[in-house]
Amino acid sequence: MLENLMNYYIETFQINEGLRTFFAPGRVNLIGEHTDYNGGHVFPCALSFGTYALVRKREDERLRFFSKNFEAFGVVEADIANLAFDNKHDWANYPMGVIKTFRDAGYKIDKGLDVMFYGNIPNGAGLSSSASIELVTSMLLKAMFNLDIDMLEMVKLSQKSENDFNGVKCGIMDQFACGMGKKDHAILLDTNTLKYEYVPIKLENISIVIANTNKRRDLATSKYNERRFECESAVDALQKQLNISFLGDLSEEIFEKYAYLIENEIQRKRARHAVYENQRTIRSVNALMARDIKLFGELMNASHVSLRDDYEVTGIELDTLVSAAWDNGAIGSRMTGAGFGGCTVSLVYNDRIEAFIEKVGNEYEQKIGYKADFYVASIDDGAREI
Ligand code: GLA
Repeated sequence: MLENLMNYYIETFQINEGLRTFFAPGRVNLIGEHTDYNGGHVFPCALSFGTYALVRKREDERLRFFSKNFEAFGVVEADIANLAFDNKHDWANYPMGVIKTFRDAGYKIDKGLDVMFYGNIPNGAGLSSSASIELVTSMLLKAMFNLDIDMLEMVKLSQKSENDFNGVKCGIMDQFACGMGKKDHAILLDTNTLKYEYVPIKLENISIVIANTNKRRDLATSKYNERRFECESAVDALQKQLNISFLGDLSEEIFEKYAYLIENEIQRKRARHAVYENQRTIRSVNALMARDIKLFGELMNASHVSLRDDYEVTGIELDTLVSAAWDNGAIGSRMTGAGFGGCTVSLVYNDRIEAFIEKVGNEYEQKIGYKADFYVASIDDGAREI
């Protein structure tokens, strides 16, 4: 595949000297959803699919971007000193944002680049194609300009870029997983302190199966930002009595005692999800470490119910996939990522995978009217040069 990409690059940019290749993965979150902007815990892992970037430095200050996934857009061009969000730049706003964010943070990026991207993450699946392109851009900037920057700083700048340049008020989970991922491990990350721990995912006889609803995630950004605002309002209300900064600071007991302070019922439900999901994440990682996979699965299921009923980010497509998974032998199954479409993640015994995919796939197609796609995940390393 790399050779094909290189040939394509040469065809597009008519040059190949000094060409280097980088990769950043997508991610799947096993549990801990909508907790990262609430100062809670998350438990994601990096995947073997992601975004490739082939790049060479230019002599002038011109940036030229091309994506093999969006060939119809052709080459998008901009000047390095003149980067601003523009709808007509579409996907290229992601790498542009990262370059601008690095420059604003004082990193010396003083020459142009010719970059070709290619991603094999299913499009719009909620497996972090945007964080993947941000991290691959960060990696190539570090290498091409010899920047003195570590991965954590690149993760933070990538998130800042998505928040400020692209206007998506995401937490840090996706960028962290795509940057810091480790083969065969998930990352237990405390998003408040950024302390993290790699937890080996050695699941004998069990695989992680990702199912894509193939539903377009329209309005996902505005609904996402709305949930974030609802949680912040709940914190404001709790602060009348409690000295907290985030919902992740609360145990279930303290939350139940003071929940009455949140007068708005919707905000109270959102907060309840954030508090319980955070505690559930800690508990589920303890269960996994104690090799209690059954309990881990039950907590995954409880996570989905909370995202469905209290956080209200699932919808008929995700709910159909998850309940079909529950009925067809999954040890645990839940939506993963922001929701409003996107993917589910399930733990399935290896000898049942084929039947699982067939049955869940059929039930989904019958009810929803189009097909779901299935992938058996393999957990891989974070962003790197290849
Ligand atoms: C998106 C965001 C993350 C996180 C998840 C929900 O993937 O980018 O920061 O909030 O949704 O857990």
